[in-house]
Amino acid sequence: MIEVKEITKIYAATGGMLGQKPVKALRGVSLTLADGEAISLIGESGCGKTTLGRIMAGLEASTSGDLVFDGTALSTLSPRERHAKFQQVQLIQQDPYGALNPARPLGEALADPLRLQAKRLGKDASWVQMRAKELLQLVGLDPANTLYKYPHNLSGGQRQRFVIARALTVEPKVLVADEAVSMIDVSLRLGILSLLSDLRSRLGISVVFITHDVAAARYVAPKGTVCVIYRGEIVEYGATDAIIASPVHPYTQALLSAMPVLRGLEEPGPDRYIPAQDLDLRLDDEGGCLFRARCRFATDRCAQEHPPLLTVDEGRRLHACFYPEARHVVAVPIEGASL
Ligand SMILES: Nc1ncnc2c1ncn2[C@@H]1O[C@H](COP(=O)(O)OP(=O)(O)OP(=O)(O)O)[C@@H](O)[C@H]1O
Ligand SMILES: [Mg+2]
Repeated sequence: MIEVKEITKIYAATGGMLGQKPVKALRGVSLTLADGEAISLIGESGCGKTTLGRIMAGLEASTSGDLVFDGTALSTLSPRERHAKFQQVQLIQQDPYGALNPARPLGEALADPLRLQAKRLGKDASWVQMRAKELLQLVGLDPANTLYKYPHNLSGGQRQRFVIARALTVEPKVLVADEAVSMIDVSLRLGILSLLSDLRSRLGISVVFITHDVAAARYVAPKGTVCVIYRGEIVEYGATDAIIASPVHPYTQALLSAMPVLRGLEEPGPDRYIPAQDLDLRLDDEGGCLFRARCRFATDRCAQEHPPLLTVDEGRRLHACFYPEARHVVAVPIEGASL
């Protein structure tokens, strides 16, 4: 189990331009990922999804806050011990080609981490061979047809499968899949999504699924959890199906309304997502709700007070909005709606 506790990440201002401000990529994010659980992180570009994924995988340090792995706070560990813990979390990125050295045969790319693993476990070279084949089969690749090839010999989908096999060499407990299917041909995406879902049920691996596509999130984890992030803050959190059926936060409603697949309409609806240019970054310093400038329902209270993340529905759901009354406009197609 991994607990993310009040993680904040501030990137220093770069470029040296006058008046440029540091970026608050994450603002006190907390969540719990149980063993075998799947959490999807959704939210618009720049909201902090990748930053959170990278911090969970140990590839980025947080500015404040802590990660707790099975009850052990990482801040209490030595760098070496921390490194060992972070092996449990493997990141699968968007671009499987960029993740592989084009000049190395795939068998070698798989054997390198397996040799290290063999050393740790006291196994010999034949174990490395055996395990390489086993992992390729697990991700749906034919070992005889893969081991002697190079990355460019594989299709996009096959390459992503290979990257997943390589991540599995260290026997992780968690896979963080960051837009893992967005660069893959649509016809091959479903296969990768099923694979992730399969790894969860067969190996009990937890999945953090970062996506712009809620339908994909539902496919990977029908019984999973969705965490909606807006400008570095969790604004809504709960069971995927419940959030899709009845989003409470106006941001979630707008986000879902922009996804035609969920409305059953060809086009986004009238409460369509407001474009990013409308962002007023000054709101950062004024307190209040960060979404208020773009929110149809905002009141004076939203300008003065910051809405806390409240628990509703007997703890199964969280949202940060003062006005969570049913405004369930999203899932219902509106007849004759125009943009
Ligand atoms: N290394 C960095 N230095 C400075 N700012 C950064 C850095 N990495 C990310 N940021 C900023 O932090 C914010 C969050 O970025 P992040 O990549 O986590 O967003 P994201 O939700 O993954 O977006 P996308 O959907 O486009 O992948 C953005 O404003 C981004 O510009
Ligand atoms: Mg990202």
